[in-house]
Amino acid sequence: MATSSAVVARRPQSRFKYALFSLLGLIYALFSLLGLMFLFVLWNNERFIIDHAHPDWTYYFPVRYLLIPHGLGGLTALLIGPLQLSSRFRTKHVRVHRIMGGFYIGGITLAATMGSYIATVHSSAPLRVFTYVTAITWLLCAWTALASVLKGNYQQHRQWMIRSYAVTTLFVTARVVLAVPIIQRLGAGASAQVLWTLLVLSLVFTEFGLAWRSIFGGRPASRVVAAS
Ligand code: HEM
Repeated sequence: MATSSAVVARRPQSRFKYALFSLLGLIYALFSLLGLMFLFVLWNNERFIIDHAHPDWTYYFPVRYLLIPHGLGGLTALLIGPLQLSSRFRTKHVRVHRIMGGFYIGGITLAATMGSYIATVHSSAPLRVFTYVTAITWLLCAWTALASVLKGNYQQHRQWMIRSYAVTTLFVTARVVLAVPIIQRLGAGASAQVLWTLLVLSLVFTEFGLAWRSIFGGRPASRVVAAS
């Protein structure tokens, strides 16, 4: 009885700490999962880069030099992103955060423009359309994040950076999902639909993640105003 009343009467401060630790745990779990998925993608999709007997080497051979800036730009954004999103790192190393932010935006700009060019000269029509839309979304999110911070709007900056990173992670999530046997059985013709679904879901879940605290986290702002 004493225990249950202690739980019910948990102070707002300890409730906040509990929520914060749960959120941090979830974020660490998500980034660890992303790291494991990235290793899987390196082995499953990208080993043609060193194994030239792999059929993918023949497929990518005509655009091999275009893939280098595209891949390096995307990889820069993929690796820098988690560090940029860490509040602890950001507050401790503001200068490094700004420099790496420049590399992040530059990486996305290079990867998105090169990706669009590669799609134009090399990819199938459905993949081409998907690439253009994704590239525009990717650039829009990253450049809006930059414009927000230049205006001193840090909340918008954080939110647009998170949205841009959701698009960045598509490189990993798309290849993992397309490798799932049940999805593979749908055939190569279904991959464009799978990619569109992933793009929409990534953006919707990101919006949900950004909004959940203001929806479920505490008292709505209007009630707080009314109560005070
Ligand atoms: C972390 C970010 C990214 C990295 C590291 C990356 C890297 C690569 C690599 C290594 C390839 C060749 C091997 C493969 O397809 O697996 C590739 C292909 C390609 N990527 Fe990316 N990419 C990234 C994000 C994107 C995004 C967001 C787009 C869309 C805007 C895109 C568009 C393309 C296109 C169109 C191809 C050629 C596919 C084909 O013709 O079959 N990439 N990318």
